[in-house]
Amino acid sequence: MTSTHDDDLHRWVRTAGRAPSAHNTQPWSARVVDGRIEVAVVPDRVLAAGDPSCRDLLLSLGAWVECVAVAAAADGRGVVVAATPHLDRLADLPVRGPADADAPVLVLRPDATPYATPFTPDDVRERRTYRGRLEAAPDLRVDAPPLPPGLALLQVDDPAMRHLVRLGGAWTASRPAVAAELVRWLRLGPAHPRYAQDGMTDRMLLLPPALARVAAPLTRRPALHDAALTVAGWAGRAVEAVGRSRSLPPAPAPGEPLEGPQHLVLVARTPGVLGATEALDARLGLPPVDVVDAGRALQRTWLHARRVGLAVAPHSEVVDSPHAVAGLRRRLGLRRSQVALAVFSVGRATAEVPRSPRLTDPTG
Ligand SMILES: Cc1cc2nc3c(=O)[nH]c(=O)nc-3n(C[C@H](O)[C@H](O)[C@H](O)COP(=O)(O)O)c2cc1C
Repeated sequence: MTSTHDDDLHRWVRTAGRAPSAHNTQPWSARVVDGRIEVAVVPDRVLAAGDPSCRDLLLSLGAWVECVAVAAAADGRGVVVAATPHLDRLADLPVRGPADADAPVLVLRPDATPYATPFTPDDVRERRTYRGRLEAAPDLRVDAPPLPPGLALLQVDDPAMRHLVRLGGAWTASRPAVAAELVRWLRLGPAHPRYAQDGMTDRMLLLPPALARVAAPLTRRPALHDAALTVAGWAGRAVEAVGRSRSLPPAPAPGEPLEGPQHLVLVARTPGVLGATEALDARLGLPPVDVVDAGRALQRTWLHARRVGLAVAPHSEVVDSPHAVAGLRRRLGLRRSQVALAVFSVGRATAEVPRSPRLTDPTG
C-alpha cells in the first residue's frame, strides 16, 4: 500500500479551496499535521448577522469536505471525517479574529479505501454559481445523485419561488446588520484590495460595468455606505410589507408539470430526540455534524448539475427570512420535524458563467 504524503494532503486542501461558501467567505482554515487535515473556522469569515444559526457556515464546511474527498478519490484514496467537540460549540467563537488552529472543528484522515464518487478535481475547479436568467431545462433533472437518509430535495413551483425570493430579498435589505454584512463582502471593481481573493465581485453578480462603477464607492465610503443602507432599508421594508400582505400564488394542480427553471429545497428531517447537549447546541434543531453532511450532499448535487450542463443559483434569503420560510413550509407542506436548509434554482445559463476568486488561487 502506498502511503499518503503530506504533499498529497496539501494538494487536496488546495483543490477544496474552490468549494462554494455563502458570500464567498471561505470560512475554513486547514492545516496538515502528522498525516491528517485539521479544519478550523475563521471568525472573521463567519456571517454573524446573516447566518446566526451557522447553517450556511456548516453547509459550506460540508461542501469543502466533499471537495477534499473528491480530490482524495482522484488519488485512489478516501478520507475519514471526524467532528471534534468544537463543532458543537460554534456559538463560542469570537466575533472577530483569525482561526484558532488549536480548536479544529473537523479532522480528516486519509484512508486506503478509495472514496466512491463520479466527480473529479476538475469538476470541483470548474463548478460555478450563476446569477443571471436561467432557462428551463425540463429534459434534464438534477435530483441525483441519491441523497443520504434523512435528506430530501423538494421542488417549488416558479410563481411561488418568485414571491419567496422577493420576500427574502426584502428581508435582507431591511435588516441593517445583514445588509451591511453583505455589502462588506462586495468587491465591485478591481480597485478593491481583495478583488482577487474572496467575496462577490461585480463580474460574479453580472453587474453592468456602468452600474458597478457607480455602486463601488458605496461599498467603501462610510457616509455613502450608510446612506445607501438606509435607502435599501426603506425599500426592503416597503416590499416586505406588500409581500406579506399578499398570499402565495395559487399552487399548481397535482401532477401539473412545473414551468420554468427547477427550484429545489434541501430538507432535513430532525432526529426524533436530541441528546441534552445536542439540543442546546443545535439552533437549527439538527446536530451540527448532520448539517455538515447535508453540505456534502448539497455539493454533490451542485457538482452533478455542472456535469449535466446546468447552472445553479442558490437563494439562501428564502431560508433566512422568517416570512419567506413560513411561506415555503406551507407550500411544501413541511412537517414540524423537517428543516429547510438550502434553496437553489437550477437551469440552463443564458450567458457566460463567471469565475469567482479564491484565497487559494495561484496569483500572477
Ligand atoms: C451555503 C451556501 C449558501 C449560499 N447562498 C447564496 C445566496 O443566497 N445567493 C447567492 O447568490 N449565492 C449563494 N451562495 C453561492 C456563493 O455566493 C458562492 O458559492 C461563492 O460566491 C463562490 O462562488 P462560486 O460558487 O461561483 O465558486 C451560497 C453558497 C453556499 C455554499
